Amino acid sequence: MITKMRKIGNIGIAFLALVALVSCQNSATPNYQYMPNMYEPISYETYGEYDIEGFENGQEAMLPVEGTIPRGFQPFDYTNSPEDIARAKAELKNPLEYTEKNLASGAELYGVYCAVCHGDKGDGLGILAKREKFLGIPSYDAAGRTITPGGVYHVQMYGLNTMGSYASQTNEEERWQITQHVMNLKAALEGRPVMEPKKISEVDDSQMLLTGDAMAEPVMLEEDHKDTH
Ligand code: HEC
Repeated sequence: MITKMRKIGNIGIAFLALVALVSCQNSATPNYQYMPNMYEPISYETYGEYDIEGFENGQEAMLPVEGTIPRGFQPFDYTNSPEDIARAKAELKNPLEYTEKNLASGAELYGVYCAVCHGDKGDGLGILAKREKFLGIPSYDAAGRTITPGGVYHVQMYGLNTMGSYASQTNEEERWQITQHVMNLKAALEGRPVMEPKKISEVDDSQMLLTGDAMAEPVMLEEDHKDTH
């Protein structure tokens, strides 16, 4: 009986001690940190504010050096100047093979982005042209226009006068696929044979366009259009 009383007494003392301990706790400033390194790291915080010489902007984080190319991004070495438009028209080549997939995708994307103005056939008679919402939309066989794969790509990157840029809606591969379709529309308008898709066995995988994360030299193929007039 006595031992039982003592046990209860002990539990009571332990309980009181615990209450006393917890009551010391100030919730605004916790006085015990479990693994404090997690809260107060020894290293500098990337975006912390420091007054340290050599820390530009007072941060450890710095801007990438000039000329840095983000992973998976393909640089485009042409500006929106008349000289660079001419240069792109003359020398920029389509790196994609004429495959079933590329041609089908190009036709579909053209229908989404371009046909409203340029028309399904590329004759410049899209719905917006017919409704006179946009004027001066050329046919792809218009006399006096030099339409080459490089030029079609360039105009999608930067636009031209009332035509806007499509660089934010399409990626590099899609723009080249659209370019294939445009060159085929042009050929059809001019009564020349269109490019037929190659059979899979003829396609050289090593020359596929590198997209996404692939970090390698961009591959440029031999000229795939002979009509750079
Ligand atoms: C809002 C209407 C509109 C849309 C949509 C449009 N274009 Fe155009 N496009 C024009 C006009 C207008 C011109 C003539 C620009 C000029 O020469 O002043 C033009 C010119 C062109 C040219 C001739 C450029 C040159 O070098 O002479 C090409 C090629 C072309 N567009 C391709 C495209 C492709 C590909 C798309 C879809 C991704 C597209 N366009 C979407 C209105 C449009």
